[in-house]
Amino acid sequence: MDVFVIEGGRKLSGRVRINGSKNAALPLMAAALLTDQPVTFRDIPDLSDIRNMRRLLAELGVQATDADEPLPCVTLRAVDETEVHARYDIVRTMRASICVLGPLLARRGSARVSMPGGCAIGQRPVDLHLRGLEALGARITLEGGDIVATAPGGRLIGDTVFMGGPFGSTVLGTANVLSAAVLASGTTVIECAACEPEIVDLASLLSKMGARIEGAGSPRITVRGVESLGGAEHSVLPDRIEAGTFMCAAGITNSEITLDNCPLDAMMSVTDRLDAIGVHIDPLGSSDDPLRRSCRVSCAETLKSVQITTQPHPGFPTDLQAQFMALMCLANGNAVITEKIFPERFLHVAELARMGANITRMGATAVVTGVKELAGAPVMASDLRASAGLVIAALAAHGTTVINRVYHIDRGYEHLETRLGALGASIARATEEEAAHLMPGAVA
Ligand code: EPZ
Repeated sequence: MDVFVIEGGRKLSGRVRINGSKNAALPLMAAALLTDQPVTFRDIPDLSDIRNMRRLLAELGVQATDADEPLPCVTLRAVDETEVHARYDIVRTMRASICVLGPLLARRGSARVSMPGGCAIGQRPVDLHLRGLEALGARITLEGGDIVATAPGGRLIGDTVFMGGPFGSTVLGTANVLSAAVLASGTTVIECAACEPEIVDLASLLSKMGARIEGAGSPRITVRGVESLGGAEHSVLPDRIEAGTFMCAAGITNSEITLDNCPLDAMMSVTDRLDAIGVHIDPLGSSDDPLRRSCRVSCAETLKSVQITTQPHPGFPTDLQAQFMALMCLANGNAVITEKIFPERFLHVAELARMGANITRMGATAVVTGVKELAGAPVMASDLRASAGLVIAALAAHGTTVINRVYHIDRGYEHLETRLGALGASIARATEEEAAHLMPGAVA
């Protein structure tokens, strides 16, 4: 297993381009199951989760053809529509495999998808996905750990579906029901739909394929079902979480950097908190597309502590909670961070404490008391965003940090070490043996 070796204390400078969003790309790719025509994507990031989705789609009869325009692009085409089983082997490597459930059911009339388990960020139920699809007429049973779903008569039937749960709406649940409703007969109204920009991006692709959708980005989405969908071309939404991660990296190292292809319009809650902290985001030039802008990130000398509460969009994203917690470790005062999406998503707290952070967790809230400095240490990546938080802390820490298990980071950040390195950070990927040699006892 690879590790990252980071020497903290370097300022960052220069510019970095934000890649296409992983969380937008996964349901977009699954939507290729809804047609036998080619669907072409630009700016799909090169990540292990994306490679897993390609493997899953290949098992489901989808052919992938890569091309290099100025940006990498892939064309997906369902050439064999007989297979409907998403096997445990793949689903256990990536929960987002659940995205194929709605499209398979809508187009092939049945689906068998291994039930995803929990993960490091807590319980991850799929009851709302199943309830939504049942409201469209699906018959669903659980057999041998698999969700087995059929559309009686081969086609789902539009209805009103309520997607709210104990923690608000569900993003992938909304994606599943939306992707199923586009081919259902009649009209579907999704109430308490997730408003995330990734859902708007999915609706945009589906509309290009011929779907009739209104209200994506609001809590009520109306879908008028059509008989069939065609091919389309689509550029994936830039990754707002990756952009926020680079912003935190600039903030904690007191640096000035430029981000290109940044989805600023989808990041209001993030830039609002950064501004209160003393990390300023200034859009550069004019752009026709508010989701693909350039911006300068600059910082005040001293960072201020703030309150942060994660919420469904347009609230503050849970996927940036760990990175902001790292930033708050070196801010002035006490920050109060409350997690309202995944109340157990705090595995990074203990690892940040190993670097000298002062954090008290009480249930779903953590109080971070800023310290003068962090110290490099061997730490353990536990999940994707927690690991990104550790990278941010390490960039500012005194001395060397070794982050174990960086395969978590590779799930969601493309070549993070190369891109941070190009900005001036001292960060290298190494094998466990190399790291053990460098820092005895650093490798788990
Ligand atoms: C998506 O997961 C993202 N994943 C997550 O990003 C992100 O943290 C999450 O949305 C919230 O923004 C992808 O897009 C691939 P949810 P998703 O269903 O859709 C509860 C990352 O690091 N819930 O919106 O699976 C659930 O337990 C990942 O990139 C139910 O109760 O999350 C949670 O408390 C991690 N029943 C809340 O809803 C359900 O059936 C929101 O979860 C489904 C969810």
